[in-house]
Amino acid sequence: MSRRAQPGRPGTARRTMNPAESNRLFVYEYDRGSNYEEDTRLTTALSALLPEDELVDPDQRLFQTVHLITEYAWCEMHYEMRRAARGLAERDYLLAAQLLERAAATGDVAVRAVCVLLDFLPQESLLRMRETFPENTTGLDSPGARNLRRAAAALWQETEAALAREGIGMRALVTAQGRAASPAREDRAPDLALVRQALLRLDGAVAAWKHHHLRLVWSQLGGHPETAPASGSPTAPATDPSAERSVDPSAERSVDPSAEPSVDLCTGPSADPSVDLSADLSADLCTGPFDGPSDRPSAGRDVRDDLPKSLRGQSTAGVRAMAERSLFPRLWDSVDDTYRALVPDEQTPA
Ligand code: HEM
Repeated sequence: MSRRAQPGRPGTARRTMNPAESNRLFVYEYDRGSNYEEDTRLTTALSALLPEDELVDPDQRLFQTVHLITEYAWCEMHYEMRRAARGLAERDYLLAAQLLERAAATGDVAVRAVCVLLDFLPQESLLRMRETFPENTTGLDSPGARNLRRAAAALWQETEAALAREGIGMRALVTAQGRAASPAREDRAPDLALVRQALLRLDGAVAAWKHHHLRLVWSQLGGHPETAPASGSPTAPATDPSAERSVDPSAERSVDPSAEPSVDLCTGPSADPSVDLSADLSADLCTGPFDGPSDRPSAGRDVRDDLPKSLRGQSTAGVRAMAERSLFPRLWDSVDDTYRALVPDEQTPA
């Protein structure tokens, strides 16, 4: 915040959130010209909220607030991820790890926010609000989510560059994390192991958001994979709908992102320098399976055609596919490599 000469004491409120409120004590006043409001840009931030008389449903305030909190959290995470990437480039690995931990902790704020909707948004309120939203209103256009994916690709490139510079493999970081002896002073593996852990935490925070968002979609729009198909749909049971349903393996396949050709582009920067996978392209394509050239995920080969549809007319099965994606897909390779190194094939538990 800036230091200013003015006293910055608040005056009378120039704006209110709920001018129609009859009880003066319930009137939410703001824009009092205080340094606090000015320096935090709070006046501007509060004026982003829809005025009460424009809410199509009383629950729209919560709905909008959760979106705004989430976008702020994601914007902050993006900022810290960029700083962390710089830390990596400057070999300040402990700072990078700390900033990534901070980004992950901020990601938990977004998780908490989506859980508030999950727990408290009445389904009928959401469906009434949704009626009034124009088609093609979609979370796929969230600047926060999109920029996080793009930044994650750049951050991963910086992580790989740091490992290459230090001559350390990702697998060695797993070893460093569980080391039994103190490392040599010049050994950077323990510091980079903290970076790896922080990346896992960050990936986990985003995965947790996606998981709870998926449950939110199921609880507001329906389409949980274990609900009975609607009667009359091609997959509806012919006889007793309450009869125990068996898991349809093709339905599982339909949300398997690895079935889509674009998944190759989601593995991060290619090892083959002749393949030009710009961070932007691969990041955007990492949103899930695709119908075609657009960056919009589709339901894939879902056999159920009675699933709820998003406002851009796509089956919500795409949300499930997206929920399984990692911010840093290649980060997981070291886990498999370690397993393979420590568990010989013949001893692999069933
Ligand atoms: C009742 C609340 C919500 C419902 C019913 C809902 C529904 C959906 C649906 C159906 C999609 C798929 C979009 C498509 O195919 O066009 C989607 C995607 C998405 N939504 Fe929501 N959403 C809700 C709340 C939120 C909130 C609070 C945020 C926070 C910013 C959000 C962010 C996103 C994002 C980023 C995506 C893209 C998927 C991804 O990156 O994993 N949504 N949502």
